[in-house]
Amino acid sequence: MTGGAVRKKTVRDVDVNGKRVLVRVDYNVPLEPESGNVLDDTRIKATLPTIEYLREKGAKLILASHLGRPEGKREPSLSLAHVGERLAELLGSPVKMTGCCCGPEVQAAAQALEPGEVLLLENLRFHAEEEANDPEYAKALASLAEVYVNDAFGAAHRAHASMEGVARYLPAVAGLLMEKELEFLGRAVAEVERPCAAIIGGAKISTKISVLESLLERADKLLIGGGMANTFLKAEGFSVGESLVEDEFLERARRVMERAKEKRVLLLLPTDVIVADRFAADAQAKRVSIKDVPEGWRIMDVGEMTVDVFAKALEGCKTVVWNGPMGVIEFGSFAHGSHRLAGVVANLKGATTILGGGETAAVVEQLGIAGRFSHLSTGGAAALGGAAMLAVGAAVLAF
Ligand code: 3PG
Repeated sequence: MTGGAVRKKTVRDVDVNGKRVLVRVDYNVPLEPESGNVLDDTRIKATLPTIEYLREKGAKLILASHLGRPEGKREPSLSLAHVGERLAELLGSPVKMTGCCCGPEVQAAAQALEPGEVLLLENLRFHAEEEANDPEYAKALASLAEVYVNDAFGAAHRAHASMEGVARYLPAVAGLLMEKELEFLGRAVAEVERPCAAIIGGAKISTKISVLESLLERADKLLIGGGMANTFLKAEGFSVGESLVEDEFLERARRVMERAKEKRVLLLLPTDVIVADRFAADAQAKRVSIKDVPEGWRIMDVGEMTVDVFAKALEGCKTVVWNGPMGVIEFGSFAHGSHRLAGVVANLKGATTILGGGETAAVVEQLGIAGRFSHLSTGGAAALGGAAMLAVGAAVLAF
């Protein structure tokens, strides 16, 4: 994307009355480990406008999504069944499910649909052909419908069978969520204002290093927290105890820091952290300077001082992009840094604030402040990868 509003053909441009419409959605949502219930339904809610629009227009809906990374195998814990249940609750009407996403059973279910009915296929990635963008698999998916709608912004960077392949065999248009995301980002690109800051957190540096490198060339400030900061801290010579570190990225982290100096990009790492004696919600915890992480302890969150320093750096910024939490937010006891920072970003005056990724969205949803950001992108789950930040961050900042 190079700037300006993006105009793609959307659901509004096609006649769907009485037609079977295959809608690729991104229901890659966090699930509760024990019950499998949907933990955060932001991505499901975000598709409701498209679904409701299509139903009103008399379409028969076939929804398709991936969930997690089952690597081509049927993995019961990654079934979309609970997602279907949540969707039915949100729609206030039944959602039919299939045990697979292609084959005779699915064909029959698709053919039997009445206008306004919704069928949710089983996890697309139960077949390796999905990620391999296998043409036969794409054709099989296409054969279910007469029109293809892509509303899976969060997966837009994946050239998989249900994303790229299927569009070769059916009239293809964008859904309303896709349209909204692209329009917002297009405008933000055209009107980006400096200084711009990128806040990057989440567990692993490996999933976000290329995003970081890309942002480094565009942002004025980079604020790094979450598990991924540990590799930077170790590269800086700090001892981080038992914290998650990806040693194979130490050198790249060093290069990022050097490049930041060269480019005079302000790169901030945590200065104090909350450490725990084990990886558990009820672990013994304390706040320490980054210089004093005890042997055998691990970093679980950023400390108060770090949030203060980050808050100061964000003052006066005109564009702020944030992806990835500052700590282990799934343990409420280590969500404080992310919560405080969310408040800081929400209170920024005169700034365009863009949040990307399911976990970051979950933070602000939990706090009930989601409405106080300029744009909550469904792009990218921080837990699953940083490519969405590329979609959001690079798109916003690529000017
Ligand atoms: C995401 O959550 O980032 C998207 O759903 C893509 O998932 P993936 O990184 O497993 O392809």
